[in-house]
Amino acid sequence: MVASSKDDREEVLQAWYMDDSDEDQRLPHHRDPKEFVSLDQLADLGVLSWRLDADNYETDEELKKIREARGYSYMDFCEVCPEKLPNYEVKIKNFFEEHLHTDEEIRYCVAGSGYFDVRDRNEKWIRVWVKKGGMIVLPAGIYHRFTLDTSNYIKALRLFVGEPVWTPYNRPHDDLPARKEYIETFVNKEASNNAVGAAA
Ligand SMILES: [Fe+2]
Repeated sequence: MVASSKDDREEVLQAWYMDDSDEDQRLPHHRDPKEFVSLDQLADLGVLSWRLDADNYETDEELKKIREARGYSYMDFCEVCPEKLPNYEVKIKNFFEEHLHTDEEIRYCVAGSGYFDVRDRNEKWIRVWVKKGGMIVLPAGIYHRFTLDTSNYIKALRLFVGEPVWTPYNRPHDDLPARKEYIETFVNKEASNNAVGAAA
């Protein structure tokens, strides 16, 4: 399903472990030295990614195929910048609250850029930089947050299976079935794979 090569994707999707500083959330927050995370590592956490033709999303066959395969019947635009969002500084702090959803969060960046931060299995923050042409799926139940970067502009397509539900459940919400399923599928499974690997 992923037609473009991995290198191709990395031009519009990059991920790295974050530092612990309290500086502006819109800064890159690289560690020193930088610690990049591959898109395969993200996939192991359930985070899927594609590179698509953002100038032709209306007629893009590849997007159409992804939507059909994954049942993404709903689609709308979300544009975030200081000029279009009243109380911008307050709102972007709200987006940055750690939360989860009971469904996938699917975003396709068609202009601008932004950071989607996700927790790895050891609770470390991985920052995923999504630029024009990058599309990501955050699985249901993964703790995450969003921020604009210093360009202060993103235009994204939001996709969904059926009628959209955008409800964020701020951390902690560990008893939700979606959270338990996420742990079962992407955290425990990996731990048992590693145990098997170590025993072999
Ligand atoms: Fe979210």
